[in-house]
Amino acid sequence: MEHWVTHGFGIWMLRETRSGSLVGHCGLLANEPSDPELVYALCRQVWGRGLATEAAAAVLAYAFDTHNLAQVSAYVFPRNTASSRVLRKLDFHAEGQVRRFQAHLDHFVLRHE
Ligand SMILES: CC(C)(COP(=O)(O)OP(=O)(O)OC[C@H]1O[C@@H](n2cnc3c(N)ncnc32)[C@H](O)[C@@H]1OP(=O)(O)O)[C@@H](O)C(=O)NCCC(=O)NCCS
Repeated sequence: MEHWVTHGFGIWMLRETRSGSLVGHCGLLANEPSDPELVYALCRQVWGRGLATEAAAAVLAYAFDTHNLAQVSAYVFPRNTASSRVLRKLDFHAEGQVRRFQAHLDHFVLRHE
């Protein structure tokens, strides 16, 4: 809640429309306020239905159209091909690797055109 008050954005919970069940979360973290980080995770039983892509697209629309942010970053373990695929479907570009969590992570960026 403090993150929302401070930055005007944060993490949303995701509910499946039909059942109302909580199925994950998606949102933006202001580790670097001018370059917030897109994060998401869904319950395993709903993987492969396009929900991460749908949720992330809604968060990006909020970031760029409502909040007028210039760019959003995402960081992915190289073996996490499902997450990389989500980002590529959303037109993120790979910008090399960064060292985080004692590992080399792929850094993806989407700039507001
Ligand atoms: C990554 C994650 C969010 C994806 O959620 P999802 O709702 O299944 O994602 P989507 O259905 O929107 O898209 C997944 C895409 O990856 C593809 N994919 C899934 N597993 C894959 C694999 N092992 N290899 C290659 N592609 C794969 C799917 O086919 C789909 O692409 P397509 O639409 O072209 O067919 C989900 O797996 C998850 O919560 N993982 C654990 C948390 C996590 O890794 N979060 C991200 C941290 S960076």
